[in-house]
Amino acid sequence: MSRAVVDPGGGTGGTGLTSPVPASGVPGIPGQPDAAPADPQRHGDAVANAPRPGRGRYVALAALCLIGWAGSLAVGMSVDCGPDMHRIGLACHILALVLSFGAILVVDWVGFLWLLGKRDLHDTHRLETAAQPLIWGGLAVLLISGALIRPDVSNPLTQVKLLCVLLLMLNGIALAPTMKLLHALPAGTHFTAVAKRLRRRLLIAFCISQGCWWTSILVGLLNSTLRRWAGD
Ligand code: HEM
Repeated sequence: MSRAVVDPGGGTGGTGLTSPVPASGVPGIPGQPDAAPADPQRHGDAVANAPRPGRGRYVALAALCLIGWAGSLAVGMSVDCGPDMHRIGLACHILALVLSFGAILVVDWVGFLWLLGKRDLHDTHRLETAAQPLIWGGLAVLLISGALIRPDVSNPLTQVKLLCVLLLMLNGIALAPTMKLLHALPAGTHFTAVAKRLRRRLLIAFCISQGCWWTSILVGLLNSTLRRWAGD
């Protein structure tokens, strides 16, 4: 049985990362050893006092995403690369989609299993670290290849899709500092032991991520099908 992770601030201050729960209120994680630290109070203090990653880094990454997104749109609106490049661009677009979305699905799924108490918090950490290059590399290729396949920016559906693409990237970056703090919690920390504010933040980010990805994919498929039907 996992031990309760107490709020280092006694529920009134501290990191606010974990919330006080009765010892019997935290279910054990099936198949996981009891990995809670001997002194969660001290561990919580360590998390609270750990140097927070600089905000500037995340602002710079968000700016980079914005520039990449705007650049992709600008090129897509002004350059016609011809039918051969269009075919290559579309193939790259689909491959990058498989790479990036496949990795996102696995990461979000394991996060969901942690939420249900079927995986350890640090499983999600390891997986997320390994998947980052696939996710962001795939997104970069999606932006580049999307620019080569003549996006019809006057189409309202395409506008929704492009906004979703921007939102999912910014959501990923905005969530990074929260994930860093979350992963600094002891192995064995259950979702129910995490502070309510942080739980809500994680759930909202999960919904934005999945909602934006699925909308982008469905709009892409719909637009592609309509284009083919129109014989374009
Ligand atoms: C998360 C990012 C993205 C996802 C998940 C996505 C998804 C898709 C999908 C599933 C298709 C259908 C492929 C097919 O079966 O033919 C598609 C097509 C397309 N995508 Fe994307 N895409 C993304 C980003 C972009 C960006 C950034 C642009 C442009 C700047 C773009 C422009 C296009 C274009 C032009 C098509 C061809 C269909 C059409 O006329 O709209 N995509 N996309």
